[in-house]
Amino acid sequence: MVNATSELQQPVQALGAAGARIDIANVSHHFAQPGGASLPVLDHVSLQVRPGEFVALLGPSGCGKSTLLRLVAGLEPPAHGQITQDGQPIERPDPSRIVVFQDPTLFPWRTVRDNVALGLQARKVPKDQHARVDEALALVGLSEFAASYPHQLSGGMAQRAALARALVNEPQLLILDEPLGKLDSLTRLSMQGELLKL
Ligand SMILES: Nc1ncnc2c1ncn2[C@@H]1O[C@H](COP(=O)(O)OP(=O)(O)O)[C@@H](O)[C@H]1O
Ligand SMILES: [Mg+2]
Repeated sequence: MVNATSELQQPVQALGAAGARIDIANVSHHFAQPGGASLPVLDHVSLQVRPGEFVALLGPSGCGKSTLLRLVAGLEPPAHGQITQDGQPIERPDPSRIVVFQDPTLFPWRTVRDNVALGLQARKVPKDQHARVDEALALVGLSEFAASYPHQLSGGMAQRAALARALVNEPQLLILDEPLGKLDSLTRLSMQGELLKL
């Protein structure tokens, strides 16, 4: 069970956009279990994240890390407490907060470039402003694979494509839920370095 109060760390350079201030105030959360019992997962968690800050949640499997990230993403509301972004309550998912999960979930029928452009297309950003797609692909080292399809990529490349798809939207908050968990250890090491550089 996550039960934590943050120790503020040195901010690092923000990703693209200006970054967001996240306030997690006294958040508790539980899930209903078969038979009607309630499984407590988060117990009065308070944490502040400053714009541009890089925070890692560490803990054993099942302790509630993903649950907290889902609440911050706005995928579900906390049972108790409040989460705000720049002072505004987080009540639903928003393009200013992008989540990258362990499974890259690229669309198999779209090329890498079209997968990365998905968010821009969904928000009806005109095609002539899609230069960001190529920038994001270059950033993750996939320029040469823009026309490839997901089945032609290795696991690490697919995960980098998913990261490019997130970055192209210039999110204020990038929520990474074990995005390197499924990679082999050598690829994971190099991706950790690349993420830090990004
Ligand atoms: N939607 C859900 N319904 C019921 N129980 C859940 C749900 N999501 C997570 N849990 C339970 O909450 C606990 C924390 O899960 P999770 O946040 O995924 O942990 P972590 O990411 O730290 O491994 C686990 O016991 C898990 O089984
Ligand atoms: Mg998890």
